[in-house]
Amino acid sequence: MLTIDSLSYSFDGKEKILENLNLEVKEGEFVSILGPSGSGKSTLFQLIGGMLKPDRGSISLQGKSLIGARGHISYMPQQPALLPWRNILDNVLLGADISGQVDREKAISMLGRAGFGKYKQDFPHQLSGGMKQRVAFLRTLLSPQSFMCLDEPFSALDELTRLEMQQWLLSIWEKDRRSVLFITHSMEEAIFLSDRILVLSNKPAKVIHEMNLNFSRPRSKELLLSKECLDLKRELYALLETNKQGEINEIY
Ligand SMILES: Nc1ncnc2c1ncn2[C@@H]1O[C@H](COP(=O)(O)OP(=O)(O)O)[C@@H](O)[C@H]1O
Ligand SMILES: [Mg+2]
Repeated sequence: MLTIDSLSYSFDGKEKILENLNLEVKEGEFVSILGPSGSGKSTLFQLIGGMLKPDRGSISLQGKSLIGARGHISYMPQQPALLPWRNILDNVLLGADISGQVDREKAISMLGRAGFGKYKQDFPHQLSGGMKQRVAFLRTLLSPQSFMCLDEPFSALDELTRLEMQQWLLSIWEKDRRSVLFITHSMEEAIFLSDRILVLSNKPAKVIHEMNLNFSRPRSKELLLSKECLDLKRELYALLETNKQGEINEIY
């Protein structure tokens, strides 16, 4: 379980980006974070990943502190951050490489499934933005850690590719049930994928709403066209609208 307790952070010691943020992700749970741009979502992930250190508060995974500790979660940053001197296959294997658990065959088969069969030996500069994002996503899937943080992993993809990637993520997740924390701007995406959605306020980020999604799994894309989905979307939309006007208080 990931536990974040009273987390506060500021880049310059003046402006608070996060203030007393609390959240929890249970073992095997898929939790999405929905919030306005600039509210501190990516900053939160950098704190969880150990790239930044909080001013106050704690972050722990199975009871062990993650503060300033890298390599304990599998993390996909908002920018794909591929290494320009490694080809696509070697980029996908980077996380696995660092932890010493390389499975080349699995990587090759995943690349094939994602439509990269012909591009394994190519280099990042030869790829489009959407392709780079998919490579970074595969790298995260192939990293062995049991907790995954995905920061807007499908934002650069067209609608159909995006749906394909979401379904793929779900099929993999249903097999190994790694805990996932997922940042997205898409209400639909959050509803389709998650067990629970946390809505964040403007910065300093606080959790202002929690929504449980009890749709059975495996989920099919028909869910996206259902009345229930539309009703939930309406509810989230109203919340984000009110939040924009600054009229909502934190829930915990
Ligand atoms: N390296 C940085 N130095 C100073 N301010 C930053 C830095 N990174 C982000 N910020 C600021 O922190 C706030 C939150 O950013 P970010 O976490 O990227 O938001 P989100 O991911 O929710 O869109 C923004 O106002 C942004 O300008
Ligand atoms: Mg961000």
